Amino acid sequence: MVVKNVCCIGAGYVGGPTCSVIAWKCPDIQVHVVDVSQVRIKQWNSDKLPIYEPGLDEVVKECLGRNLFFSNDIDQAVREADLIFISVNTPSKTYGIGKGRAADLKHIELCARKIAEVAEGHKIVVEKSTVPVRAAESIAHILSANTKPGVSFQVLSNPEFLAEGTAIENLLNPDRVLIGGEESAEGEAAVGELTWIYHHWVPQHNIITLSTWSSELSKLASNAFLAQRVSSINAISALCEATGADVSQVAHAVGKDSRIGSKFLQASVGFGGSCFQKDLLNLVYIAECLNLHEVATYWQQVTDMNEYQRTRFAKRIIGCLFNTVTDKTLAVFGFAFKKNTGDTRESPARFVCSHLLEEGARLNIYDPKVERQQIESDLTSTRATNDPERIEKLIHIYTDPYQAVIDAHAIVILTEWDEFKTYDYKKMLSVMKKPAFLFDGRKIIDHQAVMNLGYHTETIGKRFTRNTLLRSSGADL
Ligand code: NAI
Repeated sequence: MVVKNVCCIGAGYVGGPTCSVIAWKCPDIQVHVVDVSQVRIKQWNSDKLPIYEPGLDEVVKECLGRNLFFSNDIDQAVREADLIFISVNTPSKTYGIGKGRAADLKHIELCARKIAEVAEGHKIVVEKSTVPVRAAESIAHILSANTKPGVSFQVLSNPEFLAEGTAIENLLNPDRVLIGGEESAEGEAAVGELTWIYHHWVPQHNIITLSTWSSELSKLASNAFLAQRVSSINAISALCEATGADVSQVAHAVGKDSRIGSKFLQASVGFGGSCFQKDLLNLVYIAECLNLHEVATYWQQVTDMNEYQRTRFAKRIIGCLFNTVTDKTLAVFGFAFKKNTGDTRESPARFVCSHLLEEGARLNIYDPKVERQQIESDLTSTRATNDPERIEKLIHIYTDPYQAVIDAHAIVILTEWDEFKTYDYKKMLSVMKKPAFLFDGRKIIDHQAVMNLGYHTETIGKRFTRNTLLRSSGADL
């Protein structure tokens, strides 16, 4: 079999960009991306795509209607496909056994049942979603228990390593592509088909074939290692603030060791995004279920440290503002979990803002890409607060950062958008309340320059002067 027709179930942050790049690089393959959400599919077929990713618009524009199609007709796309990616969401469970930690596989299971129901002939089913190790076994079980005569399946694991904000670049030049399959002639043939697709643009030495279970676990392990680096440098940042060391200097020094490397050593207000937290918790849950309690405790610390870092920053803001933010206006720059995306899932900004709102602060929020409704719903959802009506009155969303700072007591930077580095902070200072504070949770501003302007400046992992107000933030430092 040579794959001519690919279907992807799930037109989200992974399915959309991944399949757009496959369509772009493989003009000989028809790619159909399907989703239950009518709104999302309509957006993919419009001028305003449902997600913001640098370079994505151009790729979609070139392929849409040529060999790339977005639709809600899941049955037809599955029936016609030789190879089906499952790229649906796998959030942490919000109910029942493993609540808050185990991955919720209900969407994956629905996809498997749908494929079993409508498939004809031979299909290669590819897990693209991040799943617990051995999830492929459950998919294969559902498929084989519902197989009709003349229908056969092979299940592969092909986890996605793209990072939001650089998805297109990551997809075009992946460090590696993992393809996990069954150790049988049929399994190897299926691995060969998927390898052939990637070969259109990925060099052979970057395509790693391995066992299905190793492939599934490698994805969870990779995210756990990345998150661990962030938590490690953040733990050091707390030590820096308490001792007078500078975390940027420490990170530079540590990262120069070629065994350690310099990437992912940027201290900040914490990691966010839809993956790190849920994948870590999933790993912890799997370890616990396997009675590997020491392993579970080890990885749990990575997420505990992240929570500590976010809380510490929020408390430090309050401490510096004379121990109260009630009725004070704070201009918040950035709400997305990182720059170059409009995604707010698990964003540290959500957490810090919620903390400040619970303390009665008025927040003037500006983000270049996050929509007003998204910010409002993130901060007023029942998960974020137990008093949504009161909180709603405290939130003000701005489309102009210069308007957001008028009469503000402080600027709080929570996302590392490049444009924040280029603002006229002198002009901003002139319309702010005095003393004016600037809290840089991402370490992107020229701190000396803004201090020279007259801002009282605070950042992560660095103390600017001895005996500053920083001390008033109390035991947390
Ligand atoms: P998403 O929430 O953006 O997209 C998932 C899509 O699947 C939604 O549009 C939803 O409507 C659709 N869907 C759910 N059940 C369906 C069903 N039964 N039939 C048809 N469509 C259905 O999720 P995202 O971010 O794309 O993540 C997908 C998977 O990829 C997750 O397992 C995630 O952990 C993993 N991943 C995510 C990365 C990211 O940066 N967002 C990076 C690498 C992996």
